Amino acid sequence: MKIVTIVGARPQFIKAVLVSKELRKKHKEVLVHTGQHYDRELSDIFFDELAIPQPDYNLGIGSDSHAVQTGKMMIAIEEILLKEKPDWVLVYGDTNSTLAGALAAAKIQIPVAHVEAGPRMFDKNIPEEINRVLTDHVSSLLFAPTQTAVDNLKKEGVTEGVHLTGDIMLDSFLHFSRVAERKSKILAELGLGKKGYLLATVHRAGNTDDEQNLRSIVDAFMSVDDRIVFPVHPRTEKYLKQYGLYAMLRNAPNMTLIDPVGYLDSIMLTSNAGKVLTDSGGLQKEAYFARVPCITLDETTGWVEIVQDGWNTLVASDREKIIAAIKHFQPKGRQRKVFGDGRAAVKIVGIFSKPVS
Ligand code: UD1
Ligand code: UDP
Repeated sequence: MKIVTIVGARPQFIKAVLVSKELRKKHKEVLVHTGQHYDRELSDIFFDELAIPQPDYNLGIGSDSHAVQTGKMMIAIEEILLKEKPDWVLVYGDTNSTLAGALAAAKIQIPVAHVEAGPRMFDKNIPEEINRVLTDHVSSLLFAPTQTAVDNLKKEGVTEGVHLTGDIMLDSFLHFSRVAERKSKILAELGLGKKGYLLATVHRAGNTDDEQNLRSIVDAFMSVDDRIVFPVHPRTEKYLKQYGLYAMLRNAPNMTLIDPVGYLDSIMLTSNAGKVLTDSGGLQKEAYFARVPCITLDETTGWVEIVQDGWNTLVASDREKIIAAIKHFQPKGRQRKVFGDGRAAVKIVGIFSKPVS
């Protein structure tokens, strides 16, 4: 079988790496990078560190408004699909690259397979929610990471082609944690001891593009004594500078601002943090895998099981709630096995390899 895989943004490189490896044992994979992320720290570093094969096509689309970015991707992807004539198009997660790949394929009757189908935030103001719902509804194979995701799909009438595989990010986390232990030097470079700091990431549009929300988060970070290590996404850097917050945050005595890091460093920073402060979906899960308490800078999450288990608290951009959670939030300890067994890649490729009924 020939499968065209579409990736484009940081979390997709991390999600695709082990599926690709498994897929290539049995099938031909054509890798398309949309170019949604193009800075070295958001793209090339992952291909180098994780030994991801170079993309067969790099579309170089770059940043733009939602419609322009998604539209340009669709035009370029359609051309590739008409030329390559794959049996499947494989997409990951919920970015504009995901939606562009899914729509371009479905419209020319190429079946779509979606990894990480089904999580819902139940808020259509969130661009990723739109991407995920639309992608799921044009997909023929839906690889759900959790039972909640399967249930969400069922409520939307999507039951055919749905498979509970576990979360591919657990596969990557388990596999690359071992590599990170050997190779990452980030803790020594930054002089960090185990549990001696908090890790923060912020990039969600609802937090960065809204000045009041970003100010409130920044104010909370600077109001605590805890050391906070903050790899700054370029979107966030842009808005911090625009709102005149960047220099102040950078110079705050408890803050360590760094460029975005590679996955191995990200795993080490997460696993050794006292707490994680984030609006990243991926980081919420990794904190849970590493048994690190997570304070989520969002009103909702697609990963409700972590909140139910008591390892994640939702504080949005509320200054007082963020400070209170930094000081007092402590999980109860119990974790269910909701994200599977770390063998999602094998299961996904196994399902692909069976004839479609
Ligand atoms: C995108 C995804 C989001 C995902 C995130 C992962 C969408 C709608 N959003 O958000 O779901 O969680 O990736 O990190 O698909 N920029 C750079 N260099 C880059 C890429 C982006 O400077 O290599 C800057 C540009 O100013 C750009 C902004 O970041 O306008 C936003 O980039 P974009 O890809 O549109 O969205 P992300 O916020 O990265
Ligand atoms: N990540 C990384 N470097 C960073 C910040 C995050 O490698 O500086 C990793 C993180 O470990 C996780 C993934 O990026 O695996 C999450 O991606 P992101 O937060 O960009 O997007 P989301 O998960 O919210 O879609």
